[in-house]
Amino acid sequence: MSSNSSEKKSPVKSTGLHIGEALPGVKKVDPILIADHVSRTFGGLTAVDVEHVEIPRGAITALIGPNGAGKTTLFNLLTGFDKPDTGSWSFSGSNLAGVPAHKVAKMGQVRTFQLTKALGLLTVLENMKLGAKDQSGESLFTSLFPFLWKKQEAAIEERALGILERFKLVKLKDDFAASLSGGQRKLLEMARALMSEPTLVMLDEPMAGVNPALTESLLEHILNLKTEGMTVLFVEHDMHMVRHIADWVIVMAEGKIIAEGSPDEVMRNDAVIDAYLGSHQDVDLGVVTGRITIPKGKK
Ligand SMILES: Nc1ncnc2c1ncn2[C@@H]1O[C@H](COP(=O)(O)OP(=O)(O)O)[C@@H](O)[C@H]1O
Ligand SMILES: [Mg+2]
Repeated sequence: MSSNSSEKKSPVKSTGLHIGEALPGVKKVDPILIADHVSRTFGGLTAVDVEHVEIPRGAITALIGPNGAGKTTLFNLLTGFDKPDTGSWSFSGSNLAGVPAHKVAKMGQVRTFQLTKALGLLTVLENMKLGAKDQSGESLFTSLFPFLWKKQEAAIEERALGILERFKLVKLKDDFAASLSGGQRKLLEMARALMSEPTLVMLDEPMAGVNPALTESLLEHILNLKTEGMTVLFVEHDMHMVRHIADWVIVMAEGKIIAEGSPDEVMRNDAVIDAYLGSHQDVDLGVVTGRITIPKGKK
């Protein structure tokens, strides 16, 4: 189903991911995540109203849509950071509705945040250790025997240093996260997500606010996740990036899934073009967005 390669210039795309016509909610050959009737309202506003969606395993899926479409809210719901009004969903066959975020992460589904959550007053290495799987589930048995937790601690540190090396952050391991640039913090957040050995990595605007030099390496890291067998779901506004790395694209507008397909198909879709033009008249498809800072005092 998926064809992987670490080729530099144009990544090899996975094809044959869906069954039948590529309509919103289309079934996938091998879905890792399946959601049904997931809705979330805030007061009178319906932020998310997704009838059915499936995320293909082992592929890179981009979730796109104008600002306010409900992408972050959907991420929050699917990862246990928020509770829906209705709906159910499963990850690798396990029902996830009502499962809290730390358990979701332990099961192998991790996410990063649109606004990074690296803890500024902890060092880079300490941030990494917090991402480790066993942290929230330390057993009483282990805690009673120092030699057991010391061994575990050493293994966690070794794993952290290995990942930091890959992300070219190892030199900064003893620096406070607060001293990193915005781009480095994004890298740290992604690196930390990998500490829990996930199978599904959900990235909310991983490239927003990242300078072009780091963008390249973030792209490489995302492609590597797939090469290593992980599934990626990411939110991104830059259509060039989406076209370059995504195998599949899901489009949201006003809380609903309005289109799905390969990047090329989706970008030719009239409903998609309308959604962007309707709410984003100043921005054209293909332009880098999501890098705008809203002036204080405005919503
Ligand atoms: N905690 C919240 N309280 C009230 N409204 C919210 C909250 N979170 C999101 N919204 C609203 O829900 C809609 C979807 O937001 P969001 O999921 O952040 O969209 P996106 O990530 O696609 O830009 C927006 O109209 C937003 O203002
Ligand atoms: Mg968002």
